Amino acid sequence: MAQEARCVWQARALLGEGPLWSPRQDAVYFVDIRGSRILRHGLSDASQGVWELDDAACWLVESADGDGFIAGLRSRRVVRLRLEPGQTAVIVAEIARIESDRPGNRLNDGKADVQGRLWVGSMDDSEEAPAGSFYRIDSDGAVTRVDGGYTVANGPALSPDGRTIYHTDSAARTVYAFDIGADGSLSGKRVHIRFGEDDGYPDGMTCDAEGGLWIAHWDGARVSRFHPDGRLDRVLALPVSRVTSCVFAGPDLDRLFITTAAHGREEEPLAGSLFECDPGVRGLPPCGFGSPRS
Ligand code: BGC
Ligand code: CA
Repeated sequence: MAQEARCVWQARALLGEGPLWSPRQDAVYFVDIRGSRILRHGLSDASQGVWELDDAACWLVESADGDGFIAGLRSRRVVRLRLEPGQTAVIVAEIARIESDRPGNRLNDGKADVQGRLWVGSMDDSEEAPAGSFYRIDSDGAVTRVDGGYTVANGPALSPDGRTIYHTDSAARTVYAFDIGADGSLSGKRVHIRFGEDDGYPDGMTCDAEGGLWIAHWDGARVSRFHPDGRLDRVLALPVSRVTSCVFAGPDLDRLFITTAAHGREEEPLAGSLFECDPGVRGLPPCGFGSPRS
């Protein structure tokens, strides 16, 4: 059974997002989109690292070959990034450029899948127009638009067999499911979960090894686990309202880390912190960009 969440880092992230577990480093990385920072929490020694960026990172995944990170930037560029402790973050290569014709958009959540592809959403930075899309980026950098009409594209998550992808329009309070074909095409778009007004907005998500979907509730002060058929299983309450995303971490993938946002919630003392809980179920190993997971 999921237990109470504890604050592990009062990072005061304005928009903490996109948590990622690095098995190589046994560390959880996450981004602060509005604060233009990348943060690192070491699991074995509780060490902390912070990198300030000129162009905010909206998500981060590891490169499958171990050569640094891949980040999606506010400027809608996807880049290879080197993050060394105590040094400035360095962009070493540009992998893709998205929506050069949409300066009002920024990237939002992104994830890698077992094939080493990226799945990335874009959104209207003012969160008003349905100007956002959903993209697949193959390991050679080719960008394919796979869906559109999102106001706040959020939280791609992959099922354990890698054949279903969940993707959200937070503004519409709707989580969709799609089937992924062998060539990476999407079909069978359907409503998987709809949030009610009392639930807040569905934000970042991750699947556990049993196919349960853990969804962060923005303005809902919780993370919920849903069964693979979309029924609510259980709820983990947090002491802050803007809960943004979660990730399984640790060598046994049995720790759940949760990001939150302080923006607009200045009166909440723990808003923007990184939290941890014992979810009572194991997660899936993280995927990197560039080649299939071995
Ligand atoms: C976006 C925010 C948005 C929130 C809730 C986040 O993923 O980055 O801009 O306010 O979701 O919709
Ligand atoms: Ca998000």
